[in-house]
Amino acid sequence: MRTQVGIVGAGPAGLLLSHLLHLQGIESVVLELRSRDYAEKRVRAGVLEQGTTDTLVEAGVGERLLREGLPHEGIELRFGGAGHRIAFEKLVPGHVITVYGQQEIVKDLIAARLAAGGDVRFEVDDVALHDIDSDRPYLTFGGERLDCDFIVGCDGFHGVSRPSIPPGVLTTYEREYPFAWLGVLAKVRPSADELIYARTERGFALHSMRSPEISRFYLQVSPDEDLAAWPDDRVWDELRTRLETVPGFTLTTGEILDKGVTPMRGFVAEPMQYGRLFLAGDAAHIVPPTGAKGLNLAVADVRVLTRALAHWYGTGSADLLDGYSRACLRRVWRAQHFSWWMTTLLHTFDTDDSYARRLQTSHLEYVTSSDAAARTLAENYVGLPYEPGD
Ligand code: FAD
Ligand code: DHB
Repeated sequence: MRTQVGIVGAGPAGLLLSHLLHLQGIESVVLELRSRDYAEKRVRAGVLEQGTTDTLVEAGVGERLLREGLPHEGIELRFGGAGHRIAFEKLVPGHVITVYGQQEIVKDLIAARLAAGGDVRFEVDDVALHDIDSDRPYLTFGGERLDCDFIVGCDGFHGVSRPSIPPGVLTTYEREYPFAWLGVLAKVRPSADELIYARTERGFALHSMRSPEISRFYLQVSPDEDLAAWPDDRVWDELRTRLETVPGFTLTTGEILDKGVTPMRGFVAEPMQYGRLFLAGDAAHIVPPTGAKGLNLAVADVRVLTRALAHWYGTGSADLLDGYSRACLRRVWRAQHFSWWMTTLLHTFDTDDSYARRLQTSHLEYVTSSDAAARTLAENYVGLPYEPGD
C-alpha cells in the first residue's frame, strides 16, 4: 500500500493534518491505536484560541463549533477573597476564546475525513516506523506495509514516533511539576458565566464548562494521587472549599460523569524533524494545562506543516519543510513560558516559604490591577498571532 503522507495518531493534530492535506489535494492515511469510540469520548482540553477557531472554520469543520461553542470575552482570577476579571474585550479587542470540548473537535474531524473518503484506521496497535532517514520511509502495522513520501508523528507524548528517532539526535527539555490535576466532568449547570482560575491556600482550582448543562472542573492534587481516594462527595467538598471564597458565589453540584488525573509537565524535543519524519503536537512538546495551550499548539504545528508539505508537492522545494521545526519552536517556547508562568502564579508549591507566597500574591495583585500586566496575560491566553505565512 502507498500514500503520500503516513500519519501516526488520530488526535486533533493527526486528524486536522489529514483534513488540511486533503484540502490541498495531498493524500494521507491515519493510523490510530485506540478505537473510534475511545478517541471520541476522551475528555481533555476545552479552550480554543481565536486562531484555532478560525483555522477550523476556514477548513470547513467549524459548523458545529460555531453553533455549540461558547465564546468568552474574559476570565476571572480569584484569590484573597475576591474575583478579578481579565477583560479581553478591553485588553485585546476583537479576540475571544471559544469553549468547545476537544473530543467534539475530534468527532467533527473524523466525520469530515470519513465523509471525504479519507483513510483513518482505528485499533492499530503495532505501528512501526522504518527508513525515516531515507527518501522512502514506510510504516508497518498488522502485517501490512504503507510506503510514504513523509511520515508525521502525531501520536502524543507516549507514542512510537519520537522514540523511533535514533539516540543523540534530539535535545529534550523537561520540567516536572510537584502536583497533578484531578479533572472532573459533571452534569451540572455552570455556576459562573466565565472560567474561574482560583488560587487558594489548599491549592489551585479551575471552574470551566462544556455547555449550559455540563461543567468541567480541575483541582490541584498530589502527583501520585489515587482516584479511588476521591469519591464524588470529596470532590464537591474540595471544589466548594476552593471556589466558594467570594461573597455571593455558590457552587451548583450534581452528577459526576468522568474523573481523571493528569500529570503536569513541560517538555520540548528539538528539532521536530528527523529525515522524512516530522513530529507535531504532543509528540514533540507538552505544556502544563494552566495556560490552556496544548491543543492550540498542536493546531499551530499542523498549519505550518501543511503549508510546508503543500510547497514541497507544488514546487519540489524543501525550503519550508527544512524550516518547519524552527518556525514551530518559536511559538512552542512562548507557550512553554506562558504555561509555566500561569502555573507558578496560581498553584501552591510545597517548597514555598512565606516569602514566596507573598511574592505570588503581589504578582496576582499586579496582574489584576495593571492593564499592562493584564494585557500580557490576555494576549497570550487568547493566542498570539501566527507568524506571517503560518
Ligand atoms: P493526542 O491528543 O494525545 O493524540 C495522539 C493520538 O495518538 C491519540 O489518539 C493516541 O491514542 C494515538 N497514539 C498514541 N500512540 C500511538 C501509537 N503507537 N500508534 C498509533 N496511534 C497512537 N490541554 C489543555 O489545554 N487543557 C486540558 O485540560 C488538557 N487536559 C489533558 C488531559 C490529558 C489526560 C492529556 C493526556 C492531555 C491534556 N491536555 C490538555 C493536552 C491536550 O489535550 C493535548 O495537547 C492535545 O490532545 C494534543 O493533541 P495531539 O493530537 O498532539 O495528541
Ligand atoms: C480547560 C482546560 C484548561 O487546561 C484550562 O486552562 C482551561 C479550561 C477545560 O478543559 O475547560
